Parts: sequence; structure tokens; C-alpha cells
Amino acid sequence: MAQAPITQNPDIRFLGKQLGDVIRAYGGEALFRRIEYIRSTSVDRHRGIVEADAIDAGLEALTLDDTLAFVRGFMLFSMLANLAEDRQGVATEPGADLASAVERLGKEGVDREAIMVLLDQALVVPVLTAHPTEVRRKSMIDHRNHIAALLQLRDRGREETDDGEMIDDSIRRQIALLWQTRPLRRERLYVQDEIDTVLAYMRDIFLPVIPALHARWKRTLGERAPSFLRLGNWIGGDRDGNPNVNADTLRYALRRQSEVLIGHYLELIHALGAELSISTELAEVTPEVEALADRSHDQSPARRDEPYRRALSGIYARLAGTYQALTGNGPPRPGTVAADPYENPEALREDLVEIGHAVKKGGGGTLANGGAIGRLIRAVDTFGFHLATLDLRQNADVHERVVAELLKVAGVEADYLALDEAARVALLRDELAGGRLLWIAYADYSDETRSEIAIVQAAAEAHRRYGPQSITTYNISKAESVSDLLEVHVLLKEAGLFRPGTGETPPSAAIMVVPLFETIGDLENAPKVMADWFALPEAAAITAARGHQEVMVGYSDSNKDGGYLTSVWSLHQASRALAPVFEQAGAAMQLFHGRGGAVGRGGGSSFAAIRAQPPGTVKGRIRITEQGEVIAAKYGTRESAAANLEAMASATLLASLEKPSLPQKDFERYSAAMDTISSAAFTAYRELVYGTDDFRTFFRQFTPIAEIATLKIGSRPASRTKSDRIEDLRAIPWVFSWAQARVMLPGWYGVGHALKGFKDQALLREMLDAWPFLQATLANLEMVLAKSDMVIASHYLPLVEDQAMAQATFGSIRDGWQVTHDCLLSITRQTRLLEKSPALDHSIRLRLPYIEPLNHLQIELLKRHRAGEDDPRIREGIQLSINAIATALRNSG
Ligand code: PGA
Repeated sequence: MAQAPITQNPDIRFLGKQLGDVIRAYGGEALFRRIEYIRSTSVDRHRGIVEADAIDAGLEALTLDDTLAFVRGFMLFSMLANLAEDRQGVATEPGADLASAVERLGKEGVDREAIMVLLDQALVVPVLTAHPTEVRRKSMIDHRNHIAALLQLRDRGREETDDGEMIDDSIRRQIALLWQTRPLRRERLYVQDEIDTVLAYMRDIFLPVIPALHARWKRTLGERAPSFLRLGNWIGGDRDGNPNVNADTLRYALRRQSEVLIGHYLELIHALGAELSISTELAEVTPEVEALADRSHDQSPARRDEPYRRALSGIYARLAGTYQALTGNGPPRPGTVAADPYENPEALREDLVEIGHAVKKGGGGTLANGGAIGRLIRAVDTFGFHLATLDLRQNADVHERVVAELLKVAGVEADYLALDEAARVALLRDELAGGRLLWIAYADYSDETRSEIAIVQAAAEAHRRYGPQSITTYNISKAESVSDLLEVHVLLKEAGLFRPGTGETPPSAAIMVVPLFETIGDLENAPKVMADWFALPEAAAITAARGHQEVMVGYSDSNKDGGYLTSVWSLHQASRALAPVFEQAGAAMQLFHGRGGAVGRGGGSSFAAIRAQPPGTVKGRIRITEQGEVIAAKYGTRESAAANLEAMASATLLASLEKPSLPQKDFERYSAAMDTISSAAFTAYRELVYGTDDFRTFFRQFTPIAEIATLKIGSRPASRTKSDRIEDLRAIPWVFSWAQARVMLPGWYGVGHALKGFKDQALLREMLDAWPFLQATLANLEMVLAKSDMVIASHYLPLVEDQAMAQATFGSIRDGWQVTHDCLLSITRQTRLLEKSPALDHSIRLRLPYIEPLNHLQIELLKRHRAGEDDPRIREGIQLSINAIATALRNSG
């Protein structure tokens, strides 16, 4: 049946037309017509206007060169459509700002004072990771951002840029550049490249945006709140499964961050010097600023009556010295006088505060309101000398091996790995109680052990150089026991980052060790592990001194382990069950959510996700990973970054202070129902993925996993180990490949089985009406179902060698999809997917006709590639198609 015509976002229409013109101008009329024919046929087909097979005629006629051009054209269209949508999203995200949150809380009787008390202890941190899901090259993203900036000028009614060019011409020029820019990376990506990429976001986006947001919030709140919104980073410190990350990358990341940051401070101080031209002949200046000015040794006669300028040249000189001391390089613009570096950010802050006070005093009303000096003080509060906190992460298995080797070489324990948990704990606690170190400088250690020890030493050096905020956290992947936490403390002790207690002083840890629980079993066990941990007096002492403890929970690996529903439910339950454990230990709980863009990796709206957290589990403190393509989508421009960061902050406020919407007794009923549903979903999922003969082979042949593994989109390998077991495959390529084949299994499989088998359908509906957790869970599932397509997926079947096995396995998947689809419609009382979410429906519908031809081309190219054809254009075509489909599906990996 024909759908009603889709009303388009005007930017999409405008950009699509420009792209068409560019293709015609640069690719020729014939190519343009061929692309246009396939496009319009596919659009008509999706609207039910023409027959299903009509599309193939256009595709088969394409030569290999045309295929490449075609795929690029569709990819660019999707990229521009995403851009247009992101702009719209930013402008219209309802209620996701701090002012609305404060108002909403006010209506519930939560006053400003309660909000300020919360903010005093709050910490909200997006943590940027290099997780390999960004398929686009940085040059493509830069062009995209340039177009976004031009569109913004256009919105303001401007016709010309500041350089006097017509805006529409400039946009067309950027699109022409996009058309002529190679989308695929030729060279492999190194960790340094990943660090450099994220630095550009830090410099261009986060450095200006975070202080500006705090300034806005000061107006909203009527007073200055502490700098609770900060920035975190994993790139250069996350070694889990990435042998390319080591002490050198850690040093490089921190040095470059500091270089960018202090370079930024220097520029701001320079600008402030230009601004604060206040003369003692016309205004009064405080003695403190006079003293600062005198200390600066700035003797310039021109500035004799300008104490601010003299004081600022002194500050500039000291900061230039700091730049030199921290980075080993001279500053971009040396100071006019020589001076000692600042010891720490606090010393710099003190000087800036003197200036701020004086300006306020002297200027009365107008100059009193912070301005540039206020933002600079805020920046120093937020970024210190380090810019973003860099976390360390490594796998528990590695720590075990390293500690075992250290113990063995030191003659303490010959076979640590053979010990049971209790014996390990006893041994490690003993080690931590005494002052002796294990490392023997002249002994022969494995490369792994050397590298891990070098890391903790580099971390200790970073603390000395950039301050303790530069590295606050050490995450342990696949954590499952107390000994996993103790092992890391033993390693920290080797570098002086853990100190045993003495008679007078309790033990202390300069870096917080954080377990990452990421399988279903480990999530279930998490409360017990943490209770056992807090029961150790040394752990209790460290925690008490710090006041809080973090636990990280992993969305993707729990999903790969137990399927979508069981994963989200276990995460919910684990958080809920952890809260009383922390309460009892007297420690504030800080959850760190390891989630990606795709629903199979915990994706979906952050605003909704934070608000749907169980009551009592947020309390002002939260960290969330931001990865890959999500970074460009959310933080590509200052405007969108500000909106997304504000959404995160306001959701945190709401989740912490709003009254729970669900009465406890209802929660208990719902929770019992969820246990039943989740366990049925778990069984169905495990049976398919881990219990079906040859499922691994099916997955490897049916999806482009092998080709994805060769894409040059990240510095780390696709598997944690050399095996091809699904358990060892990283969650990202797992989710990514199912998305390419349009199955998107990690987003829904098993849910239908469970919902169908649940007897009390009325209860399910009641739960959906009343419970934000279930609403968010099913909304995400519905989005995934709408992007999946079993008919297109079935075209991938010929790629599997054993057809009988392929048909049987695919049959189970298709049946699972159908039952999930039907149950969802029934519970949500809809006649088709997304009936009640028109905006999302429209957005997805707009994309689908662009994705389907890409799928068909991808399948053809995969067949030819796997049959041994070795034309390099085939490999390129496959990679381009992966790129294009990922772009069109948006949250891809
Ligand atoms: P990880 O991340 O494999 O690095 O733990 C998983 C993900 O982000 O999906």
C-alpha cells in the first residue's frame, strides 16, 4: 500500500539538491542519471509505488567504477541527511536543559538549596574513547562541520560569509570537496592518530563549551556551582586488547593535552591583556593587583599606569614557563619577561582570582559579571593543567599473569595462578600490608610484565607532572572478584601509587581502581564482590578517604553474552542492588556506563537512559563513555556539544532529585515479571548463539565480519585474542556486522520468545504504561526492528556455503524477528512499527530506500571477493558499502 508522501526536513532537500548538482558537474550527466534512476526507483519501491524487483535492473547495469561512485553518492547523501537531522534535534530536544530541569524539580518541591547541595558533590563526565566505530575519515568530518557552520549562518538570515562569499556557493563548494575526498583510509590507524583526532575535539569544542555552559548555569541557578561537568578520555590509556597502547602513548596523550590546554590559556591571557586596558588614572585598582603587577617585573613604560596589563604579563610569563616545564617545548609565543613556572593549577587560579576581584571592585556593576576572566577561572577549575582525566584500562587476565610473574621472580609464590580466590586474596593483602616491593630491576621479565610496570610508572610520573587529576581511575575489564581489584593495587604499589598503612596513617591509593562488570554472571555477582571489597579494612580506609567509589558496567559484552533484554535488565538490577551495598559502606556510588551508539551496545538517547536509571543510583555522580561516530554526531559543533552536554547534566539532576515515579510495591511486581521474561529471553538467545551447531560459521559467512576486521577504522584488533570464538570477539564488530546485514540481532533477539511466553499480557501493558525502564527498553528495541529487514537479510544467505545449515539458522532468526515484531505491536497497541513515534518513523523511512541498494551491491561484491576475484576495486567497493550502510543506519557499531 502506498504511504503518504514524506514531508522533508528543508535542509535535507536543499543539501540533497546541492549534492545532485555536484555529482552532475563532477561525475557527468550519465552517472548522475544512473544514480538518480536507482534512487528514485528505490524511493518509489519503498512507498509501494513500483514493483519490488524494479531496482535490480539499475544496479546490475553498473560498472565497477560506477558502483564506487554510486556508493559514494549514497553515503554522502546519508551523511548530509544526518547533519540536517542533528541540527533539527539540537534545536528541539524537549526539556533537556538545566533551566527546565530546575523548573520541573521546583514543581516537585525540590528547592534551589537542595540542588546546590547535590551539585557540591556532583560529577558528570563524558569519557571519550577510540572505540573503532567511526568509519569516516577526519577530513570528511571536517567538511561536514564546515557545512554545519555555514548552515547556521544561513539560519541567521545571512547571505554572505565573513569573507564575502555567498553562503550557498560555499556550501556547494564544501560538498564538491566531499565528493572529491577519498572516504576510506589507506593507511592503518595508529594510537597517536586517535589521540590527535580527539585532541581536535578537545581544543575546538570542549575547551570553549564547558566553561560557557557553567557560565550559563550560573545565571540559571543564581549562584556559582562547582565545576561538576568535566571531561574524561580513554585514548592512550585503554590497553584492553590493544597491544599498541603503552607507556609511550600514555605520555604522548597527556603531554599533548597539556600542550593544547596551556596554549589555550596563554591565548586567553593574551586576549585578556588586550581587554583590561584599565588605567590607574581613571579607576581604582586593588593593592593585590598592584602587588601582582610589581611582581611581574614588567617595566614597560607604556604600561606604567596599567597594572592589570602588567600583572597579566607576569601571569603570562609564569604560564609560558609552565608550558615549557610540562611539555618540554617552548610556548608558541614567549612571554616578555622571564618567570618561574606555576607549581600547580591552584597557584594560577589564585592569581586569576585576584584579577577577577579587582575588576569587580573597580568596575562596580558592568565589569562585575565574570566575563573572560570568569570563564578563564572556570576553565582552570575544570581542566587544571591536564585538560581531560585519562583513564587506564586493562584486562583482569593480564593483571593476573603480571602479578603471578612478579610474585614468582621475587620468590614469594611459585604458582599464583593455581591458587584459589581465598588464597589469592590472603596473599595479595599480605603484599599490600608491607613496605617491600616486588620488582627486581635486573631480573628477566616477559615483555607483558615490563610493559605493564612501565605503565604504572608513567602514571606516577604523570601525577607528579600534571597533578593527580590527570589520572584518577584504573578500570579492570572482565572483573569478577576481589582479587582482581587487589592485583591492580599491587601493581600501583610498585610505582608508589598505593601506600600501605603505617601505625599513624591509613593505607592510601592515588588512583581509584574500578571493576568493570560485563558478563551477565559478573553483573549478578557485582553487589557481592563490592560488599566483600568494602569489608576489607584497607579497602574501607581508601574509600573513606576518597568519599566515593566507582563501578563500571558494560552494556555490549553483557548483551553479547546474554542478549538484549537480559543485558538491560541485569544492568538495571545490578545498579539497584549495588546502592545499598554502597550505603552500608558509607561511600557515594559512582556508576560508569560503558555504552556505545548502537542499541546492542546500550545506545539510544542519553537523556532518557540517565533518567531511566533505578532510583537512588545516580545521586549526582555519573560517567558515560562516548565513542566513535557518536562523538562526531553529538560533539561535532559547539552548538550540538553544548546541547548534548546540557542534556547529560540536566538528566543527572533529574535522576538524582526527582521522586521515583513507581511505588515500591509495583516495582516488586514488575521486577518479578521481568525476572521471568528475562530468563526466557536469555534461554532463547543462548540457544541460538551459543547452542546452535555451526552458528559461528554461519555468522562469519553470512555477515561481512571478515571484511569489517580489515577496515582501517581503529588501532586495535577486532578480537581480544587470536581465537574465532564469539566469546572472544569484541562486541563492536559483532554488533556492527549484524547491522550491515540488516539483522541487528543484538538489538532484539530472544525478546519475542520471552514476551510471547509470558502469560499475563495485561500486566505487560500496565508495566509499559507505568515504568520508564520498560518504556526506554522497548523504544530502543522498536527503533532497531524498524531498521532491520528480514527480506534484505535473506539476500545474504547465498554467502553461506552450507545452505541447509544457513536456511535452518536463518529460519530461527526470521521466526524470532516475527514474533518479536508481533508481540511488540500488541503490547504497544500499534498496527505498525513507530506508529506512535512519527519523527523517528519519518527519519528512518527517509533512509531506508538509500540503504537497500547498498545492501544489494554489498552482497554482489562480497560474492565476487569471496570467489577469489582480485580486482582491488571490489575490495574498495565492499569497504565503501560498509561505510555507507553504517553512515545511513547512524548508530552503527
Ligand atoms: P570494549 O567496548 O570491547 O572496549 O569493552 C565495547 C563497546 O564499547 O561496545
